[in-house]
Amino acid sequence: MWNIEDFTTAAGITVGELAAYVGESQLGDVPVIRRRPPGELARELRLAELIRKGGMTAGTYRDFLHAFLNEGTRLHHPAFLAHQTASPDFPAALADFIHGATNNSMAIYEMGAAAATVEFEVVRWMLEKVGLPRGAGVLTHGGSLANLTALLAARAHAAPGAWTDGTPGDLVILAPPSAHYSVSRAASIMGLGQKAIVELPTDELGRLDVTKFPDFWGPTSVGGPLERASASVGGPLERAGASGDRPAEGVGGSSRLAGRPIALVASACATGTGLHDDLRAVGQWCRERGIWFHVDAAHGASALLSPAHRHLLDGIDLADSVVWDAHKMLRTSSLSAAVLVRREGALDAAFRQDAGYIFYGDQALDLIGRTVECTKSELGLKIFLNLAWRGEKGLGDYVAARYATAHRFWELASRRPGFALPYEPESNIVCFRYGTADQAAIRERMMADGSFYLSSTLLNGVRHLRVTVMSPATDDKHLELLLDEIVRSTPPDPS
Ligand SMILES: Cc1ncc(COP(=O)(O)O)c(C=O)c1O
Repeated sequence: MWNIEDFTTAAGITVGELAAYVGESQLGDVPVIRRRPPGELARELRLAELIRKGGMTAGTYRDFLHAFLNEGTRLHHPAFLAHQTASPDFPAALADFIHGATNNSMAIYEMGAAAATVEFEVVRWMLEKVGLPRGAGVLTHGGSLANLTALLAARAHAAPGAWTDGTPGDLVILAPPSAHYSVSRAASIMGLGQKAIVELPTDELGRLDVTKFPDFWGPTSVGGPLERASASVGGPLERAGASGDRPAEGVGGSSRLAGRPIALVASACATGTGLHDDLRAVGQWCRERGIWFHVDAAHGASALLSPAHRHLLDGIDLADSVVWDAHKMLRTSSLSAAVLVRREGALDAAFRQDAGYIFYGDQALDLIGRTVECTKSELGLKIFLNLAWRGEKGLGDYVAARYATAHRFWELASRRPGFALPYEPESNIVCFRYGTADQAAIRERMMADGSFYLSSTLLNGVRHLRVTVMSPATDDKHLELLLDEIVRSTPPDPS
């Protein structure tokens, strides 16, 4: 049994330490990142001893937590500019705490009616925001799992027998090379292999270019939405794959058959660049051909809450499935992602399970039938508490302000000699290069002294530095300091 007094004391210590940690992180007077070797850290944190002997008390817990927080990466810090991982807001942190104590798992309704109802309502709200009010959805542990789940639903649509008979060998997924790697990973997990990814043509920044799409799948004579196209056997999807060939020649090759598309994947926005595909044009192209339109809006869907930015998602309502990560721009801790589908039964069609201990009778309220996962945590509560505390407007303002700060960085860097910025940012992600030196080395030097934490990416095969503005604490002063620091720490170009 819990000793309630011990719990209350330890919880008080936790709140005190976390408040101090977030407070000093936001001020930015401490290193944003520390990477001491694990052997050293294990000794300092007395891990082996505590694992084997236990015996932690309130006093030793305080020391442990203090050191643990000090040795981590600070996502509330103004110099945290690396990955698309949320700088979490405190209502979501409270949700994690509540889940840690209550552990109501979200597989079956009876294991947590309140938390499941919160998930239903949050998903309903997300469906409305993306323009799929009659659809369905579920929360998953992350965007990668959400992409897999959406593609499984698309597979069930294209090949209803796949669950029993295995994945037919002629199925393909249409995606640009800039799609998140979880898409091609899903292809192999589904047994299709990497060769089933048909790379679609893009512009020079990796955005889908519908004007260059191949004519393997010409506009269908039946026309109209996916519902109609797939209603009869022998619809355009089936006919396209009639000979069972693989996409042997890929894009730009033969204009004959290129396999049976499970789905076309567009990004809003692309992970590397933060740029958006033209969802309306691509969605329309899919509609005309009866191809399942999947929008990976893991990062960008939250911009629907910002009136100044929601135009970036124009056309998302044409999607057959959408992925939206709350643990990116809705400020929840990792992980809390949504997979949303246009048609109510599409997710349930993806999974057909038989497990006597849990499946029987009417399970309309159970989420287990529409996810890869069995047990899952109270994911909706994190999103709900952030919304309940800040409101749609508060979260929309957060997104707008981060996008504006990233744009400001682009303006400031563009004015400085030596900085090359290949495009104007659309979101809170900016790619750039400074000089001709090894860009990864610039990043490594700043991480080593803990002054700034950036990421990097390849753009047209060339390594670029990458800034992702996540922390509300980052302002112009830090952006100028970052530019100064890059100039100061980079050896001059040999001329
Ligand atoms: C566009 C996109 N999709 C999917 C993912 C994967 O999400 P997760 O890290 O939650 O698995 C990411 C992660 O950065 C992403 O940017």
